[in-house]
Order: sequence, then C-alpha cells, then structure tokens
Amino acid sequence: MAKKILVLTGSPRRGGNSDRLADAFIRGAESAGHETGKFEAAFKNIHGCRGCNMCWSSGTDPCVVKDDFYQLVPLIESCETAIFVSPIYFWGFTAQLKCAWDRFYAYGRGEGKKRTPIRESGLLLSLGDTDDATYRHAEGAYKDIIEYLGWADRGVVVAKGVNRKTDVLQNDALAKAEALGRSI
Ligand SMILES: Cc1cc2nc3c(=O)[nH]c(=O)nc-3n(C[C@H](O)[C@H](O)[C@H](O)COP(=O)(O)O)c2cc1C
Repeated sequence: MAKKILVLTGSPRRGGNSDRLADAFIRGAESAGHETGKFEAAFKNIHGCRGCNMCWSSGTDPCVVKDDFYQLVPLIESCETAIFVSPIYFWGFTAQLKCAWDRFYAYGRGEGKKRTPIRESGLLLSLGDTDDATYRHAEGAYKDIIEYLGWADRGVVVAKGVNRKTDVLQNDALAKAEALGRSI
C-alpha cells in the first residue's frame, strides 16, 4: 500500500551526510511507490516548546507559537510514517531537529488533543566518531519517544565516521537508508 512519509531533517548542512541519507531514503521510498514530504527543520524558524500545555487543553490549534511549525503541521496530520534524520551534535540530535520534534507533544498519545495518522517511524543518523556509544543516547531517546507516541520502529540507519560533507558517499549506510525506504 502506498504511504505518505514525512522525512524530517535536522542538519544545517545541505548536501551533507545526513541530508544524503535522507535523500537515499526518499529514493528508495519513492521507487516503492510511496509519496514523501521532506521538511528541513534547520532552514525554518521553529522555536522550542514553551511548556504551556495549551496543546493539551485547547481543541483546535496544535500550538500557541505561530511559527514555521505550522508548515510542518499538514505533513504531521497527513503522513502515516515519519523518518527523523540528524547528525550527532554532542551525543544527541541537533537543536534544530529537537525544537521541531518537541512540538509533536500536541500529538501525544492520550493527553495531546491533536491527532496524527503516523503509526511508524525510522531514524537516520550521521556522526564523526566510529564508536557506537556516541549515538546510543540519540537512538535510546528516539525509541523512548516513539514508544510514548505509540509508534512502531521500522529501522535505524547509522553512518559512522563521516565528517566531511561527502564522506557518507563511501559509507554503506547510504545503501541501507535506500533499502529502508524501499522496505516501508
Ligand atoms: C556542533 C557539532 C557537534 C558535533 N558533535 C559530535 C559528537 O558528539 N560526536 C560525533 O561523533 N560527531 C559530532 N559532530 C560531527 C557530526 O556529527 C558529523 O560531521 C556529521 O556527519 C555531520 O552531519 P551533516 O553533514 O549531515 O551535517 C559534531 C559536529 C558539530 C558541528
């Protein structure tokens, strides 16, 4: 069944390692007949969550902060799958991705008042180190977040040891990201 897939990226480096992982995923997904919507959080004006909890108490808007998050809302409310893409910055996701991701709080299982058809997700990461310990926090946070949201994990692809923008071209993670796209 053809699906609509949100690909939410967090790197401020266009054409960099994680961006190329995202594009490889998209190639695979589109070759399998899926529709994708790529949203580059680092090139948007998306503020952090204010913790006001209005998204849990008001019936209509997903957020009181009227910034570029509202360009993401139509994708959140129409996609069945979400792919999160980030370089590792200081053992975690980029702040740009985190700002956008925290705003999914409105769609929190149970308490959040807004609804999304997203039921499954994946994660694509790139990092300079070759050590698994460097991305364990990001992978762990991803798994805990999707458990909270009630989504199923479709896979995690990690490109290790990639620092210069094009390093990922020599990394087998690119083929794995494309295969993950085809498998959705
Ligand atoms: C601010 C900053 C922090 C970083 N922190 C880490 C880190 O903790 N561990 C690591 O392995 N690489 C770290 N890196 C390297 C990036 O994760 C790596 O170069 C990545 O492939 C960049 O992805 P991009 O090309 O998609 O932007 C950091 C890079 C920057 C700019």
